[in-house]
Amino acid sequence: MASRWANDEVDKAEELRRKREKEEKKRLKLQKQQEAEEAARPAKRRRLSTGDENDQVPQTQEQESERKLLRFDGGSWGPCRHTSNFETLNHIEEGSYGWVSRAREVSTSEVVALKKVKMDYNQDGFPITALREISILQKARHINIVDLKEILSGDDPQECVLVMEFLEHDLKTLQEDMSEPFMASEVKTLLRQLVGAVGFLHDNYIMHRDLKTSNILLNNRGQLKLADFGMARYIPPSNAPLTQLVVTLWYRAPELLLGTTTYGTEVDMWSIGCIFAELLAKEPVLQGKNEVDELSLIFSLCGLPSEKSWPGFYRLPNAKSLKMPRDHRNAPGFNRAKFPFLTAAGVDLLFSLLSLNPEHRPTSKEVLGHSYFKEQPKPKPSEMFPTFPSKAGQERRRKKSPHAPKRGEAPGLKNVDFSSIFATREAEEKGAGFQLKMA
Ligand SMILES: Nc1ncnc2c1ncn2[C@@H]1O[C@H](COP(=O)(O)OP(=O)(O)OP(=O)(O)O)[C@@H](O)[C@H]1O
Ligand SMILES: [Mg+2]
Repeated sequence: MASRWANDEVDKAEELRRKREKEEKKRLKLQKQQEAEEAARPAKRRRLSTGDENDQVPQTQEQESERKLLRFDGGSWGPCRHTSNFETLNHIEEGSYGWVSRAREVSTSEVVALKKVKMDYNQDGFPITALREISILQKARHINIVDLKEILSGDDPQECVLVMEFLEHDLKTLQEDMSEPFMASEVKTLLRQLVGAVGFLHDNYIMHRDLKTSNILLNNRGQLKLADFGMARYIPPSNAPLTQLVVTLWYRAPELLLGTTTYGTEVDMWSIGCIFAELLAKEPVLQGKNEVDELSLIFSLCGLPSEKSWPGFYRLPNAKSLKMPRDHRNAPGFNRAKFPFLTAAGVDLLFSLLSLNPEHRPTSKEVLGHSYFKEQPKPKPSEMFPTFPSKAGQERRRKKSPHAPKRGEAPGLKNVDFSSIFATREAEEKGAGFQLKMA
């Protein structure tokens, strides 16, 4: 038997075979790996030809197909349509910044509202209020914000007209014509739509700065839409000074009356509180004759500010000239007696919106989540809203009320005495001249 050690030749051949086999396996593995990597790597150039010799793309066409770019609508410039495309049906109202009328588009018969911008010839250039109204309305597309359709020009190169969707009523005129106030469920529907629109503005860094019932429109399907963006503006970077003369007097927050120039969206929340109260009472609740009177009405409804409830109040520019009652501690707070039919949740919401300290006012989101909207009666569905007789074909004749403030310096307050502000409160809280007696 041949010895294993002695058979050198055979062993050598066997070893060589194994070595070759190993090398071949290694080579195959490497090749596979390279092929996999090749497949994963993106092609440097898109292959345009199918590989078929007859399917050769000519050079120019190849370049054409490479030039196909994605297109985005970047808007375009074009001339405005002329006012003659519309015929006026009737005038609605002359406001501080424009004349509003109901009109029909000649070609489609669609009824719209036209707002002709009042030009201020004492100032140079196009009015800033109209510029802001146009630019903000173009951005603020929301179901509860009036739709700006287009801008028209007239024969006079200065003429500028806003075309908006037409709504049958504004809340102020409507309330003046109603014999009864809105029902609790209707107030909730209106408030919810209003707060929805204002919340949308605040989320988009816009303050309205002139919320009031005459700027809130209502159609005959119970849909509310916010209008008049002449005072609106984008929220500036923190602490940048703003004009203090904003918001119509009866809806103006106390911090503005006290001369602050660094305010925020809380001024709109105060106005919402005034509108909520007005929907309940069927008339504006803080009808001040001037800034001092307005502040005095606010304090007698909401109570007096103190360093504890509103730290920093005394540092506001106009606060130094106010003389307050000596004993603050026993001064009454929010006057609930003004709203006898409002539930505890409703009073809580109204009271928080009318907080003197702006930081205590709720945000729109907080208002919408308040228990007032969850308790009975629930908000009435818009489709179930009553239709009110339309005043569309008539000129609206409103009771006199203040307009939006004109641009300029705000008047300061000088030495105002609020020490006897609650003198009439006790009589008011007792009710209409009778008291219940125990039998
Ligand atoms: N789209 C519309 N549809 C129906 N009526 C409208 C419309 N827009 C405005 N109005 C009516 O015209 C009135 C004045 O409009 P707007 O508030 O926009 O003008 P303004 O000049 O800024 O007014 P003001 O200074 O009094 O607030 C509104 O109170 C409302 O009654
Ligand atoms: Mg207005």
